Amino acid sequence: MKKRTHNCGELKASDLEKHVVLMGWVNSARDHGGLIFINLRDRYGVTQVVFDPSNSKASQIASTVKNEYVLSISGVVRKRPEGLANPKMPTGEIEIVCDDIEILSKANPLPFQLDEHSEANTPIRLKYRYLDLRRPVMQQVLMTRHKVAQLVRNYLSYLGYLEIETPILMKTTPEGARDFLVPSRLEPGYFYALPQSPQTIKQILMISGFDKYFQLCRCFRDEDLRADRQPEFTQIDIETSFMPIEDLFRDMQNMMSLLWKEILGIDIPEFKNNIPIMSYDHAMAHYGCDKPDLRFDMKLKDLSSVFANSEFKIFKEAVAKGGIVKAICVKGAGLLSRKELDSLVDVVSPFGFPGVAWCKIQADGAWQGSITKTLSDSEKENIKKTLGMEQGDLTLILGGKNKAVNSAMSDLRLFMGNKMGLIDKNKYAFTWITDFPLLDYNEEDGRFYAMHHPFTSPRDEDVNAFIRGNKDDLKKIRAKAYDLVCNGMELGGGSQRIHREDVQKAMFKALSIGDKEAQEKFGFLLEALTYGTPPHGGVAFGLDRIIMILTGASSIRDVIAFPKTQKATDMMLGSPSPANSEQLKELGITISAKK
Ligand code: AMO
Repeated sequence: MKKRTHNCGELKASDLEKHVVLMGWVNSARDHGGLIFINLRDRYGVTQVVFDPSNSKASQIASTVKNEYVLSISGVVRKRPEGLANPKMPTGEIEIVCDDIEILSKANPLPFQLDEHSEANTPIRLKYRYLDLRRPVMQQVLMTRHKVAQLVRNYLSYLGYLEIETPILMKTTPEGARDFLVPSRLEPGYFYALPQSPQTIKQILMISGFDKYFQLCRCFRDEDLRADRQPEFTQIDIETSFMPIEDLFRDMQNMMSLLWKEILGIDIPEFKNNIPIMSYDHAMAHYGCDKPDLRFDMKLKDLSSVFANSEFKIFKEAVAKGGIVKAICVKGAGLLSRKELDSLVDVVSPFGFPGVAWCKIQADGAWQGSITKTLSDSEKENIKKTLGMEQGDLTLILGGKNKAVNSAMSDLRLFMGNKMGLIDKNKYAFTWITDFPLLDYNEEDGRFYAMHHPFTSPRDEDVNAFIRGNKDDLKKIRAKAYDLVCNGMELGGGSQRIHREDVQKAMFKALSIGDKEAQEKFGFLLEALTYGTPPHGGVAFGLDRIIMILTGASSIRDVIAFPKTQKATDMMLGSPSPANSEQLKELGITISAKK
């Protein structure tokens, strides 16, 4: 086999007359009455190769090749004839006149055409992922991913962060999902847990004295999958000691700034003036969620006081029961059809709402809408004033329990933002969300859950109340936690940690984790905290999500080389798959229910 001299994306007019050897896949082959053209492709690009009938041996072989054959061709670079240059191709000015061709490998007809990309053929594309990855767009994404990883590594190393690997066969690290368990052969009945994140271990590294740690690490979470969630994903994981939050924010902001500059070539104003900081309460009040999409306005307005004594019973009762009524005013949406208005129920029904109340002001000043009959003049005036409602606008209103109203309103805001074309796809709106509640009380279970994870510190001013553990106080305590949000997606989250054993014990108590369970699961950390623990804190970013935003991908699957399906299966490998009886026996496992 000859030696490749160039790749398929690099030859230009400055290379004329060179004798070259290229290798790659047949992207297309065309026979123009004896003159054969083959477009040869590799990950760098595509080069046109011409076979002149005067070279009968090469032409004969070229006439037999099919798409996706792997070829080695040699020949001379020449300028394409007048008028035939292709300005869309980086190699479009030249072509190779082939003097020798070797078929390195044949290819069967593909199960799908590489240039026919649709959601419908996703399963087949995932099964033949190696073919799907040949598509230039996928190759670009993985090259961007590589570049981001290198930029992050170099940047953090330059700042003195050390990359340290942590175990994959680990112990439970609670991040709110189920663990993936791995049975031990040497100790039947015992299991490792794959890390949901290296949270506890990176804290241990701080106790060991590595005051600036990072890792591009794999995390594993058995949870319901969504467009931005995979069971196996990658974090840029970071932990620091003795570092004020402002300094951590600065380092992380500069990292984002570097990525946006190097990958997209853009300077984002927020990176110069500091990414804005928004409190959790503000985000919930104005956007109904803790990851607001700030590319457009349309804030939620609270109409609870307007409806507290209203004729409209559903809203009045919602307020009387301690709930809320919230609304958005969609500028210029007054022209939506009845059918479009009715279809809004699909957005809110997952949160238990049978429909959305709406109203608008007509050209003659009269009100129209599903609830207008029950509204008094002063209520109308109040709604108009609170929402800044004008003729031609559409106001959408929901009333009920706080959580449901906020969640549904948040989705409704995004839906209407998209529908009205208010979301500028070229804009990147970053914000830090801070001052999260430390704990989340679940009425049904009658217990608290950690909003982030159980190692997150309460604010200094709340520590004493936290240790006292009064239930009503616990509901109000705020955490030293923060998330980084971009365009409505949580890119990362972190916190300052508990570095005192007594506070950590109080946390387990607040979370109803008994002493025995705390010892079993986290005894190593509790003990480590007693041997000299620096104040420490960190953050972790979803690498996959960063790549999604940088490449404009709408699904996390499109930025991961070998992703899993909605059911967490790998269609190419056919995993998960049954273990054989010998393996199960060694592990001391009997399967009681088979599929
Ligand atoms: P958290 O659970 O918020 O924090 O995760 C950090 C970031 O990881 C990404 N992420 C995911 N990406 C894809 N698929 C998933 N299933 C998935 N789950 C999370 C998100 C998220 O913001 N140990 C803490 C961090 C810390 O406190 O330092 C942690 O893991 O972008």
